[in-house]
Amino acid sequence: MKDRKDRKDRDDDKLKKIIIIDDLKSIHDDFKSIFEDNNTDIPSRMKELEKEIFGNYNKEITNHFKFIVDSAYQGEDGYNKVLQAQQEGNPYNLAFVDMRMPPGWDGLETIEKIMEIDSDIQIVICTAYSDYSVEDIEKRIGITDRVLIIKKPFDKVEIILMAKSLCEKWFLIQKARMKIGEMEKEIKGRAAEIEKIQKELFMSSKAASIGTLAAGMAHELNNPITIAFGHAMEVEKGFKKLAIENDSIQKSIGGMKQALERMIYIIKDLLTFLNTSAKNDYSALNICELIDSTISIFNEKTINKDIEIVKIFNEHELMVEGNLVQLKEVFLHLFFNARDALEGNSSKTKKISVTLMQEGDWINVWVEDNGKKIEEKDRERIFDPFFTTKDVGKGKGLGLSIAKNILKDHGGFINLQNENDHKKFLIKIPIKKVTK
Ligand SMILES: Nc1ncnc2c1ncn2[C@@H]1O[C@H](COP(=O)(O)OP(=O)(O)OP(=O)(O)O)[C@@H](O)[C@H]1O
Ligand SMILES: [Mg+2]
Repeated sequence: MKDRKDRKDRDDDKLKKIIIIDDLKSIHDDFKSIFEDNNTDIPSRMKELEKEIFGNYNKEITNHFKFIVDSAYQGEDGYNKVLQAQQEGNPYNLAFVDMRMPPGWDGLETIEKIMEIDSDIQIVICTAYSDYSVEDIEKRIGITDRVLIIKKPFDKVEIILMAKSLCEKWFLIQKARMKIGEMEKEIKGRAAEIEKIQKELFMSSKAASIGTLAAGMAHELNNPITIAFGHAMEVEKGFKKLAIENDSIQKSIGGMKQALERMIYIIKDLLTFLNTSAKNDYSALNICELIDSTISIFNEKTINKDIEIVKIFNEHELMVEGNLVQLKEVFLHLFFNARDALEGNSSKTKKISVTLMQEGDWINVWVEDNGKKIEEKDRERIFDPFFTTKDVGKGKGLGLSIAKNILKDHGGFINLQNENDHKKFLIKIPIKKVTK
């Protein structure tokens, strides 16, 4: 991190770090004066050169960065300085390395070692002799684009232009590396996203095939179970006709009828949940009337008449586009759940309130009861299919998931309003604008 920050600061300041590795002090002096001149003024030869090339001289372009020059008098000393700069996160961009530096490492050995620890540094071999052929150099340090040769005595302009272009190359390498890093991160992010989508697709196609299988089974079971139920009724009638009174047989027949009836209801709910029936007819429905008639059905089906239903309707004609049977089923499930929650409540008046209100393009219906609370740990799960806290044989855990699916098909939704322990289901259905 430190490494990247320092490099960036330096890039902003346009400071370039160079190391001269040479055993002769006069060579260091020469280099220093060349670069100091560049730092303070633009050499006139460079101005001329730039005019020749570009037709005019632009101070901004020519003098856009400055050099910091360090010295090392032996190859090993130079190597240690490059290593230290690396470790401090402030590496050198360029090294000028002499070929002959007795008594220590020669130029090639120094370069070999430096290239092992710094993969970006640019190198210029400075020599007065033809000590090594290109083949010799490549044999030692490999084929590389990081090493150039310059023959002594040096030309000032040649040195500066070479230094500038090699330092610029060093910075371009860093920029490219950063860009590649960013791209790799981006690609990794995208790959993770694609993997997630693939998993979701797999799960939903798996759920769809399980749904199709379950629907097929439900259809297949529906007939024989209904037939078995019919036969159970016939057997019961037959016993009655023959005036055979046998408690244990009658109990068995009653139990058989009850079990078959329950299976019929489970299959019916399962089919509604899987929504396998052909697309039901939608029509314009007055939701106020629909809730009123659902309350009547609920009252008919409820034996204990001790539940008070309070209706708070701000309006009496709010239209939705939907399936009458399905929407009634939504409210019926909510009322049955409220009734079950109120069952053990003997101290308070048992109350279910239904509040209806228009809010912009939505119709909001709140259904509340003052019965048993929903435990915190169950709040997340109550809309899951087959989740029930009711006794075996009582709840199938399908009511709320059926309601949720039906509302989703109608472009609406249902949620449990989280107000402490208070239970308040909010149903939202898009309004149908009435054309009068
Ligand atoms: N009004 C309510 N008060 C308290 N708990 C509720 C209420 N409505 C739902 N629940 C809880 O949510 C669970 C799931 O409800 P859901 O209607 O999906 O299934 P169920 O009523 O258990 O069975 P089913 O409706 O299939 O006969 C219930 O078992 C109950 O624990
Ligand atoms: Mg229910």
